Amino acid sequence: MTPDLMEDRAQAWAAHAQKAGGGGAAKAWEGGFGRPMQSGVPDFAQGVALYVEDVTVSFDGFKALNALSLSIDAGELRCIIGPNGAGKTTMMDVITGKTAPDQGKVFFGSNIDLRRLRENDIAQIGIGRKFQKPTVYEELSVFENLELALKADRRVRASLFSRLTGEQLDRIGAMLERIHLKASAQRLAGLLSHGQKQWLEIGMLLMQDPKLLLLDEPVAGMTDEETERTAELFLSLAGEHSLMVVEHDMKFVDQLTQGHRKVTVLHEGRVLAEGLLSQVQNDERVVEVYLGR
Ligand SMILES: Nc1ncnc2c1ncn2[C@@H]1O[C@H](COP(=O)(O)OP(=O)(O)O)[C@@H](O)[C@H]1O
Ligand SMILES: [Mg+2]
Repeated sequence: MTPDLMEDRAQAWAAHAQKAGGGGAAKAWEGGFGRPMQSGVPDFAQGVALYVEDVTVSFDGFKALNALSLSIDAGELRCIIGPNGAGKTTMMDVITGKTAPDQGKVFFGSNIDLRRLRENDIAQIGIGRKFQKPTVYEELSVFENLELALKADRRVRASLFSRLTGEQLDRIGAMLERIHLKASAQRLAGLLSHGQKQWLEIGMLLMQDPKLLLLDEPVAGMTDEETERTAELFLSLAGEHSLMVVEHDMKFVDQLTQGHRKVTVLHEGRVLAEGLLSQVQNDERVVEVYLGR
């Protein structure tokens, strides 16, 4: 790449980073530029990646979360289902530090009290969140989106404008393959299909190697084929990462649970039922509030 081109790109990045300041895709790496790591490493030795106990969130007296308790094991892939308004997104807001609960415990691993950390720090210690709407940099290429995500990782210590090392190029290449976008590496992200944008954003999250991934309705609006590939991707991440997946698409949930993983049903801000999909599907209370609609 010529110095001129590099300069152009550098300016584009700087503008995007600034524009995106408060929200969107920048969330995951906000504050990632040059600030030292402030918080520790989560301890999963006791097998727990996320521990939520007795969490309540009120909005003007209405309890969006009402003494919610649940935990996710290290390496677990947990699907969360439940009717609209059950509190699923609010739960993710609490875990990521966007919303402060009135009461309760929220721990990452056995040692990190998430209620004491700010949103930016929570993203930096290994909790990645995928919002419902895809938020990628539309005017940058697929490759550049991944490159930006990689360089925003505090541990990488690369300047935004430095050349990629061979190892970094390999990482981006492997990610392009993993998210099925190898053939589209040089396309502008804005030209991708909805499903491809979702994959790209997931790829951007993964470039930072999060220990816990929160995915809010990731396959909404995807074609059947895209949905199936997304399930395969998530299944390939389980074990290495812990995942919390909120979804309404029962076929997708079924594919993710593979007949043996637990699902959690949320209703009115708390856990209504938890167990194998086949069990909760036959739970009368679950059928009444959710599945029987
Ligand atoms: N910022 C807010 N202010 C007031 N009410 C809110 C706010 N965020 C969520 N709620 C309410 O909390 C409840 C749970 O919302 P949400 O967590 O988005 O549910 P879900 O994601 O399960 O559909 C809903 O009744 C919603 O209207
Ligand atoms: Mg929601």
